[in-house]
Amino acid sequence: MSDKEYNKLAFIGAGNMARSLIGGLLKRGYPAEKIACSDPSDACLTAAKALGPITTSGSNVDIITDADLVILAVKPQALKDVLTPLSPSLQQGRPLLVSIAAGINSASLQAWAGNSVPIVRCMPNTPALLQEGASGLYATNQVSLEQKALAEAVLSAVGIVAWVDSEPTLDVVTALSGSGPAYFFLFMEAMQSVGEQLGLDTQTAERLTQQTALGAARMAIESDDDVAELRRKVTSPNGTTEAAIQSFENSQLRETVELALTAAFLRSQDLAKELA
Ligand SMILES: NC(=O)c1ccc[n+]([C@@H]2O[C@H](COP(=O)([O-])OP(=O)(O)OC[C@H]3O[C@@H](n4cnc5c(N)ncnc54)[C@H](OP(=O)(O)O)[C@@H]3O)[C@@H](O)[C@H]2O)c1
Repeated sequence: MSDKEYNKLAFIGAGNMARSLIGGLLKRGYPAEKIACSDPSDACLTAAKALGPITTSGSNVDIITDADLVILAVKPQALKDVLTPLSPSLQQGRPLLVSIAAGINSASLQAWAGNSVPIVRCMPNTPALLQEGASGLYATNQVSLEQKALAEAVLSAVGIVAWVDSEPTLDVVTALSGSGPAYFFLFMEAMQSVGEQLGLDTQTAERLTQQTALGAARMAIESDDDVAELRRKVTSPNGTTEAAIQSFENSQLRETVELALTAAFLRSQDLAKELA
């Protein structure tokens, strides 16, 4: 592909998420001259520039002129003030607007950006910072197939993407993969702590827990078996794993997970209402 065929990308906000996306894109060979970002902080712009010879600016308006895709990578609370002054430029150029801000719905984005602007909402998660993210994407009706492909290509730079076809489903994504890393951290924290109680030193308990989580995740991804089958295969009758699994089942682990994810789902809906 020649550089002319790459779309122009503008990142509003050069914080952690924007820099991860830019770093991922550059690693995949996206031409630096097609990427621009803006931020009020010189330190953030310097950190972004260190990733490659991209364009950086203190002015949001300057970088969205001629952009094909504008990524809103600012905190949700800042979004209205950031977006409203950009509305005339956005309505003129009609780039695809991608928001990664948690909880701000497309109706609000549309109201601030202008009705004619095509919008994709994205719910990423923190492993995106290591290019191991999982993002849910939702597109409004104005978004073309080409624009969906472009949004997918950009977000794929930091991990896998999954489209959802209704906006409320993004609250499920938030409850599952958005907040999900913390569930695994909690589980790992508990495993490490018990490993120590039962006699391992801290470092050994930590290393064994981390590698077990990584190994299990890789097996789940790479095996043809689903996770239930993988679990059955490592659970010998009357063995150690069966003793632990039986204990989890007796302690209603599945119901506990259901309650936890439902609580996150409902909180996501409430936060969206508060931010609207
Ligand atoms: N980090 C994650 O793993 C994660 C996961 C899911 C969703 N998200 C979403 O991703 C978005 C960005 O998160 P983040 O972690 O990257 O936050 P961040 O590191 O705080 O980055 C946001 C950046 O936007 C800048 N900014 C503030 N006002 C601005 C303006 N008027 N124009 C341009 N830039 C402006 C901030 O500058 P100052 O620091 O100078 O204010 C900061 O550098 C958030 O909406 C968050 O909900 C993040």
